[in-house]
Amino acid sequence: MAGAGISTPSGIPDFRSPGSGLYSNLEQYDIPYPEAIFELGYFFVNPKPFFMLAKELYPGNYRPNSAHYFLRLLHDKGLLLRLYTQNIDGLERVAGIPPDRLVEAHGTFATATCTVCQRNFPGEDFRGDVMGDRIPRCPVCTGVVKPDIVFFGEQLPQRFLLHLTDFPMADLLFVIGTSLEVEPFASLAGAVRSSVPRVLINRELVGPFAWQQRHNDVAQLGDVVGGVEKLVELLGWNEEMQTLIQKEKEKLDAKDK
Ligand code: APR
Ligand code: ZN
Repeated sequence: MAGAGISTPSGIPDFRSPGSGLYSNLEQYDIPYPEAIFELGYFFVNPKPFFMLAKELYPGNYRPNSAHYFLRLLHDKGLLLRLYTQNIDGLERVAGIPPDRLVEAHGTFATATCTVCQRNFPGEDFRGDVMGDRIPRCPVCTGVVKPDIVFFGEQLPQRFLLHLTDFPMADLLFVIGTSLEVEPFASLAGAVRSSVPRVLINRELVGPFAWQQRHNDVAQLGDVVGGVEKLVELLGWNEEMQTLIQKEKEKLDAKDK
């Protein structure tokens, strides 16, 4: 289970870190209260603040960090059943984790939907508009097109239902870089069997790690990169991790040329 804390080392602010989190830096967006940026009611009145945020987060401007590559290494080793992420930066895909191993529980910029005629489009079609501060319009009915980011109160993607079989099957749970403040995602932390160890890698204790600890819970507190690197060291995966990161860096450099 991952949240915005795995992407802050990539330069993307999280939401709730005091001072640096997005929710404490919204003056520039002149919205009534932080969460409004992800509320449909407000979006229909004024989609601008959301699209200003979208411009910052649109895929292509940031690179994965070792927290993402640790999860990719778990996949390469056939150990990743599924990565449930709340992040909308798409860095899990950039890190090479295949979409069938991902549940992007709060949606993605990879696709977009017209808010009037409901037609679906690739998110790429509107990159120019978003980067050019223009509100994306449906080519068919001219309605406002909204990236498939889950707004408060909206249904989570169908794939979120995979948790019904994934969590009972899991034999180890990682919770990385999330405050576990938002439901129904946060409750997944309690959905693994009581015999299954839960490992939190986060700056501070959150959710059940703070108020409903189990005997086999483990918390690696501090910076997520340091926490992941310590685990990689203990697993003896340093070599493979460095090789993977170097290979992926070369791939991204080549693409940027
Ligand atoms: N190292 C370790 N922990 C970190 C780091 C870091 N470099 N950066 C941030 N964190 C921790 C913070 O201390 C916090 O506990 O990650 C957590 C981030 O929490 P949030 O900012 O609340 O982000 P997240 O949990 O992903 O938010 C969930 O809220 O607004 C909605 O839809 C939005 O998906 C988002 C959801
Ligand atoms: Zn339309």
